[in-house]
Formats: sequence, C-alpha cells, structure tokens
Amino acid sequence: MPGPGHHPETVFVLDFGSQYSQLIARRIREQRVYCELVPGTTPWSQLEARRPVGLVLSGGPASVYAPAAPRADPKILRAGVPVLGICYGMQLIAHELGGEVAPADKREYGPAMLEVVDADCLFAGLGAQLPVWMSHGDRVLKLPPGFRVLARSGNSPVAAMGDGQGRFGIQFHPEVLHTPQGREILGNFLYRVCGCRGTWTPGSFVAEAVCSIREQVGDGRVLCALSGGVDSSVAATLVHRAIGDRLTCIFVDNGLLRREEPQRVLDVLHGTLDMDIRHIDASERFLTALRGVTDPEQKRLVVGRVFVEVFEEQARALGAGQGADFLAQGTLYPDVIESTAGDTFPGAARIKTHHNVGGLPAGLRFRLIEPLRYLFKDEVRAVGLELGLPEDLVFRQPFPGPGLAVRCLGEITPERLRVLRDADWVVVDEIKRNGLYRQVWQSFAILTPIRTVGVMGDDRTYANLVAVRVVTSEDAMTADWARLPYEVLARISNRIVNEVEGVNRVVFDITSKPPGTIEWE
Ligand code: XMP
Repeated sequence: MPGPGHHPETVFVLDFGSQYSQLIARRIREQRVYCELVPGTTPWSQLEARRPVGLVLSGGPASVYAPAAPRADPKILRAGVPVLGICYGMQLIAHELGGEVAPADKREYGPAMLEVVDADCLFAGLGAQLPVWMSHGDRVLKLPPGFRVLARSGNSPVAAMGDGQGRFGIQFHPEVLHTPQGREILGNFLYRVCGCRGTWTPGSFVAEAVCSIREQVGDGRVLCALSGGVDSSVAATLVHRAIGDRLTCIFVDNGLLRREEPQRVLDVLHGTLDMDIRHIDASERFLTALRGVTDPEQKRLVVGRVFVEVFEEQARALGAGQGADFLAQGTLYPDVIESTAGDTFPGAARIKTHHNVGGLPAGLRFRLIEPLRYLFKDEVRAVGLELGLPEDLVFRQPFPGPGLAVRCLGEITPERLRVLRDADWVVVDEIKRNGLYRQVWQSFAILTPIRTVGVMGDDRTYANLVAVRVVTSEDAMTADWARLPYEVLARISNRIVNEVEGVNRVVFDITSKPPGTIEWE
C-alpha cells in the first residue's frame, strides 16, 4: 500500500502525546508533503530506512526533566535530517543538546505576539510581529551551544531557536488556526529547510495505490463490504480500477440506513461503475436481533455480530475466504492512529466501541488490503473526486457503522425507525437547501425515548420528542454545535412536527464535543 516504504518524500511527526499531533500531520499533508505520525520514542533505526526528508517533534503534556518523560532517540537529532521541535519538542531538543529548560514564572496559554528576530528561514516573508498560539508551562532558559534566538514573546525569551544546520524549535503551535501564519511557517520548514517539492497529490496517490494493489493481489480475488459511505466506496473504486471484475462487493442492508439510502448507493456504484455488487437485504435479521436491546454498547455489539455472520455466509457462498482471497476495507488513518495510540499512551479511555462495517470475520481467512490506511477524511474525498465519483457520494457526511441503531434511543422498532427516518430526511433536506451541507460535519435527527404533551388544532397530543444535532468538526475528535440561522432551525422544527407523523416537539442540541460526543449513543 502507499505508505510505508512507498513515498519518496516523507516527513515523520514524532508524537509525544499532544492533542494536536494529528493536526500537525494534516497541516503537513495539506502542503502536499506525505507525512506519518509515529510514537515519539521510535528508534532512529526504524525511521532511517524510510529516508525521511524531515522530522517534527510534537508537543506533549510531560515536562522534560520529569523522570518518566518520553524522550526521542538521541540519534534523531544527530542524523543530519532537518528537525522541527514544537513546544515540548523544542524543549526536548534544548534539553538533549545541552541547553536548559525550566518552569516559566507563569503558564502561557492562549494568544501571544511573536517578535521575529531572525527572518531568514522559518519566518521568511512573514513580517516582524506574528500572532501565535501558546500553551506551555516550561520554557527554554538557556540555548544549547550553536543555537540562536529566532523569535521571542512577552513570556518566552526563546520563542523560536535554530542552529543554522536544519535544527529548529518553536514554543508556539503553528498547526492550530489561532496561529494565522502557521501554515506559512510549516511551509518554510518543509520547502526551504527540508527541500520538499510537494509530490503528495490525489493523482499521485491513485497511481501509487493502483500499482500496489495490483502488485499485492496478483491474480487473486478481492471481496469488499460496501456500507454506502464515502470510505468503502472510494476503497472499492480504487480496487476496481486496479483489478476490474476480480473485485466482488457485498452490500449488506441492515435496515438501519437512512431513507432511500441503499438504492442511491447501488445506483452509483453498480449503475455508473458497473461493479459486481451483491445486494443483501438482511434488515429483518438485524431488527430481530436488536429486539428489546436498549443499551448503546449492546446495540453496537449486536449489529457487529450479525454483520459478521451475514458477511461470512455470503463470502462462503461465493467460495471466498479460504486463505487465497483478499478483503478490502476502507480503514482511515485516524482509526489506525487511534488503535495504536494506546500502545504509546496506555490508559486512554475507550469511549465507544466503533464497529466499522467490514470488520474482519474471524471464521474466514482473508488477507487484508486497506488502500486508505494512510489517508485523512478530506484526502479520501479528494481521491474520490480524482476517481470520478459523483460529488453527492464523495461529500456525503459520515454515518456510523451501527447506523440509525445509535440514533434511535431506547428500543428499535420498525415504527420508531420510520419516525426517525422521516425526521432525519427533513433535517438533511433543509441543511442542503440552505447550502450548509458541506459546511457542517454532520447533521441528523435523533429519536428520544421521551414523549411530550402538545396541542395540534384543538386536540391534545402526546407524542415523540426529536432532537436535532448539527456539528462542525475537522476530524470528529472534537466538535462544536453549528450556529445555524434561527430561520433554518425554525423551518426544521416546523416541518418535522407538520410532516412527521408521531412527533410533536423538536429540540436542538447545543453541546460541544467534549464533553458530549457527536452521536447520542
Ligand atoms: P462520537 O459519537 O464518538 O462519533 O463523537 C465520532 C464519529 O464517529 C462516528 N461514529 C461511529 N462510526 N461506528 C462507526 O463506524 C460507530 O459505532 C460509531 N459511533 C460513532 C460518528 O458518526 C462521528 O462521525
């Protein structure tokens, strides 16, 4: 797969536990430079073989002089490869190379004004004063030998440092939007210091991915579970481009999809791309298994289990899964990072069990292909467009694997699903009509287990309460509720109570993540 060993221009972000580490990787990728996140303590010998053109040491919660502080392999700083230390990363560089780090008199958190002292390299073309975002308790007190101050701020006499040999440290965070010129600063590091050319594009990705899928699969066959979402559709389309009709897709309708969803997905992938797709309507089976189940985690487990059963039966019927076949999955980079994060930072709490449709059936023997394993969501979308998929599919908002099961609070019945689907349809329709669909991360309805009293005409009603959730987000790790215009909210509410039989009240969720999650279950 494109990723390890395959990209000629790679930058590694060594992750020391900052909440922004993933964001650094994204910002680098946005500048067309391929970037991977690795644990901060990864030995140089493991990275060397990939010939990185640059290294970034992330921030982190530790203090460099704490006994258990995570440290970079000292060889990393002496390998002759350009290094940029951010916050804790800068303090590590200072500490390791003979400088001094000490607690600042006061913690610096929030906006600060950077005064550029040396505008030659990192700050080239950016002006003398730059607003930046700080978040640190320690600071560099004494420079390591050979280093100079490149910028300072009110509270940090060394807000940026460099040694003229490609080693830099910055105390602020260039990756967050509150540092408006952060993109240019990272760009200067990538292009001026590391000598990048910017070869990471959707087109180059498709070409590399198609080649490596062909190489990996040889004359084998590939099975792919389609969920209707953009990830599995893009993964299937890439595989289809590589090996054509040796790909078979299985689309399991679990009865938990949105209104008209199954048909729309089939029309595009089957109709437009002429893929071999088996459409399995297993809704009865899922709904029977979910009968009486109200616990959110239990719902996820049931949906995951039934999915594997159905998939396994279908695979066997096709004679697949005997060890010689491949299973394509639309796993994304954040899932990969999340599933390995616990190795570096044990104790990370499991908030929800995410069952992605396409989980590997234990009873079958497949080899895995995950062509999107190193992509962020926005990159998957760019690849989807590059492959010619329609915008309607490419920009579809994320939808959880367990589908409406985790939006239908309490018991799942066909009637309650009908109410939820109709309400959800109105939400999405209004969001689209008002040109907001692509501006928000997700927009949907939730059916609560609450009924409320209302009045319609001259009659008392006692009917369902529907909640509306619309959030903005960059990566679903954090999210904020969307500040929708009142008129849009009014129309959504009005249409739901008028058009959806069984609903007499609508509320809007104004909780951010954290402390809430995006889904209600
Ligand atoms: P939460 O609710 O954890 O959701 O803030 C973050 C993102 O993940 C989606 N989500 C899921 N996706 N299986 C999935 O494939 C799941 O069980 C699941 N639960 C939540 C959610 O829609 C949001 O985009």
